[in-house]
Amino acid sequence: MKIFLDTADIEEIRTAASWGILEGVTTNPSLYAKAGGGSYESILTEICKITPGPVSAEVVAEDVEGMLKEGRAFAKLASNIYVKVPMSEPGLQAMARFKAEGIKTNCTLIFSANQGLLAAKAGASLISPFVGRLDDINQDGMTVIRELAEIFAIHDLKAEVLAASMRHPLHVTQAALAGAHIATIPLKVLKQMVRHPLTDSGIATFRADWEKARRA
Ligand code: G3P
Repeated sequence: MKIFLDTADIEEIRTAASWGILEGVTTNPSLYAKAGGGSYESILTEICKITPGPVSAEVVAEDVEGMLKEGRAFAKLASNIYVKVPMSEPGLQAMARFKAEGIKTNCTLIFSANQGLLAAKAGASLISPFVGRLDDINQDGMTVIRELAEIFAIHDLKAEVLAASMRHPLHVTQAALAGAHIATIPLKVLKQMVRHPLTDSGIATFRADWEKARRA
């Protein structure tokens, strides 16, 4: 399972890249606002330079022509841009047009296996079910990941399942076991994944024993 960072914050991306684990980045309008706004295009250009893999840039237009205009402009910024398109009838049409133009897409706001199947058929390369938001409304978000991974394998569909809305480390383990091809993870959750109390206490004990032995 590939690891993407779910952020538009350049410093966060530099941190994950420095750990050697970064394989892509997903942004969206909310993450862009959280990172402080400014020129979305310049932020994306910078992110694309740091990121060794796909960088998702989300359209805000809700009509086909508007999505195409925004997406084509994003695609010109760098070769690793994937245009993020919300699931909808115009979204499907836009993704099919992007596919015909050779522009890669990530279909976002997926909440059912059927939505994911349609997005894959329309030509999206990445399919993004939002696990945490389904869990929020008392539905098992991981079921959609498992179903889509199985459907794509059974029918030999090339699209990849990108587990999004990962709220805690257990989501990441469960997504990997459910067959997600990619998980996009906030830096906070990535940092939680690094830590274990026994690792911390083990490091402290090794340090203390080392110093005691050196003094002997
Ligand atoms: O990539 C989508 C993700 O950012 C949504 O996460 O926590 O807002 O549901 P969340």
